[in-house]
Amino acid sequence: MRINLVTIFPEFFQAPLAISIPGRAAESGLVEYRVVDLRDHTHDRHRTVDDVPYGGGAGMVMKPEPFFEAVEALEPRGPVVLLSPRGRVFTHRDAVRFAVQPELTLLCGHYKDVDQRVADHLATEEISLGDFVLSGGEVAALAITDAVVRLLPGAIGDHQSAASDSFYEGPLLSPPSWTRPADYRGHTVPQVLRSGDHARIEAFRRELSERLTRERRGDLWARARERGLVDGSD
Ligand SMILES: C[S@@+](CC[C@H](N)C(=O)[O-])C[C@H]1O[C@@H](n2cnc3c(N)ncnc32)[C@H](O)[C@@H]1O
Repeated sequence: MRINLVTIFPEFFQAPLAISIPGRAAESGLVEYRVVDLRDHTHDRHRTVDDVPYGGGAGMVMKPEPFFEAVEALEPRGPVVLLSPRGRVFTHRDAVRFAVQPELTLLCGHYKDVDQRVADHLATEEISLGDFVLSGGEVAALAITDAVVRLLPGAIGDHQSAASDSFYEGPLLSPPSWTRPADYRGHTVPQVLRSGDHARIEAFRRELSERLTRERRGDLWARARERGLVDGSD
């Protein structure tokens, strides 16, 4: 697949997209990244991408023209996503949806805002990373890119590892993990995990998974109950 990242800070993506799973996926040809500098789609001497808001108020607003021209030059074949705190909150389901597309285009805002015509007439959807405000869309675009790329078949060597992650197969959180040493400063690894009894280990992990989901994520727990995946009692 191809992922287009439209930004005023192209250098932001250099290192993260060259390392770990996103980097290896690109090296092996599973994904191609095109990082586009919005300023290359301006036409004035100062390469201006922002202007004052109509109606007044604090902060600068990103102009529509560079976004429209950048996207038109890319001729994208898939979703065009504007990163925005006003968007729907990104989930694993979106990552799966994007991972089966031939192309994904992520538009990064900055400053006070992005001209609303980008959301209304260029982007196919608005997505938020969560209920907080970032300085720019780059951090959100990078998080989404990573979540999507790790789902591409072949991106992760051990598919089973991804398949047992939180959110992958159902609403339950993944159980926690331990590794050697068995005793670290008096903090010991649960005995059952060292028993070699696979059925007991499986039951222990399931119990932890359910308990964590119930205690920390009432929304996911309710979903699991609706689907009959867990016992109805609290
Ligand atoms: C300072 S923010 C603008 C926030 C905007 N004034 C508001 O309150 O909704 C600048 C840019 O960062 C990005 N951004 C900020 N928070 C985000 C979030 N939670 N999810 C996705 N993108 C975000 C968006 O691209 C946004 O245009």
